[in-house]
Amino acid sequence: MEHRIDLKNISQSFEMNGNAVTLFEQLNLSICQGQSYAITGPSGAGKSSLLMLASGLEKPTTGQCVAVNHGREFPIAELRAEVGFIFQQFHLLPELTALNNVALPLKLRGDNKALAKAKQWLEHVGLSHRLDHKPSELSGGEQQRVAIARALVFKPKFIFADEPTGNLDPKSAAEVAKLLISCCQQQNAALVMVTHSDALASRAEHIYSLAGGTLSLKKSVQAKELLC
Ligand SMILES: Nc1ncnc2c1ncn2[C@@H]1O[C@H](COP(=O)(O)OP(=O)(O)OP(=O)(O)O)[C@@H](O)[C@H]1O
Ligand SMILES: [Mg+2]
Repeated sequence: MEHRIDLKNISQSFEMNGNAVTLFEQLNLSICQGQSYAITGPSGAGKSSLLMLASGLEKPTTGQCVAVNHGREFPIAELRAEVGFIFQQFHLLPELTALNNVALPLKLRGDNKALAKAKQWLEHVGLSHRLDHKPSELSGGEQQRVAIARALVFKPKFIFADEPTGNLDPKSAAEVAKLLISCCQQQNAALVMVTHSDALASRAEHIYSLAGGTLSLKKSVQAKELLC
């Protein structure tokens, strides 16, 4: 049985100079393991904030974000070890080599095969010749491939990616998008991507738009119909 994350009637508001700013209200979304989602929308609409709530990294102002398995609900915080995150700015640790960046999540979990598994993943993303390079010695596309390997190395059930190709040239962006989507499919992980790129969004099974505080489904297709 697959896992699911349910966002139930959530709202997110911030206090700014004494005024409450509401990003969205009564928002509902289910994220199923093994499926891909794109969230598009104008700058400032609250896409990154939504990703932080859906991944359990932050709590909504009202409503609930819960994990569901076998029909049983449990706190999303218990899913923390099953969530990988990929950022627009890569967020690799600058003093660590590519190999050690990818091995880190496994080492933190006490995996004694961390380095061997990290090496396999770097080979999988086409970076076997860059194991000992630090992030500053890698191109943007290479850094994002390291970030993908780091997010997937511990076999998470959910991957959240905030503008994963936003800092890449069109060719690298297309390569990284293809890699990210195929890696998630191979591992049967859910992929939730926030993007301004129509090309990237169109590769997801479910495309949503967040605008004016409302999340609307724009398109929903089966994976086999996609041109991956
Ligand atoms: N912790 C916070 N406190 C106050 N306001 C915040 C906070 N986090 C986000 N905001 C505000 O919420 C709004 C939405 O931010 P968010 O980063 O989610 O937008 P976005 O849709 O991801 O935009 P972009 O496409 O530019 O990345 C912004 O106006 C931002 O200033
Ligand atoms: Mg954002």
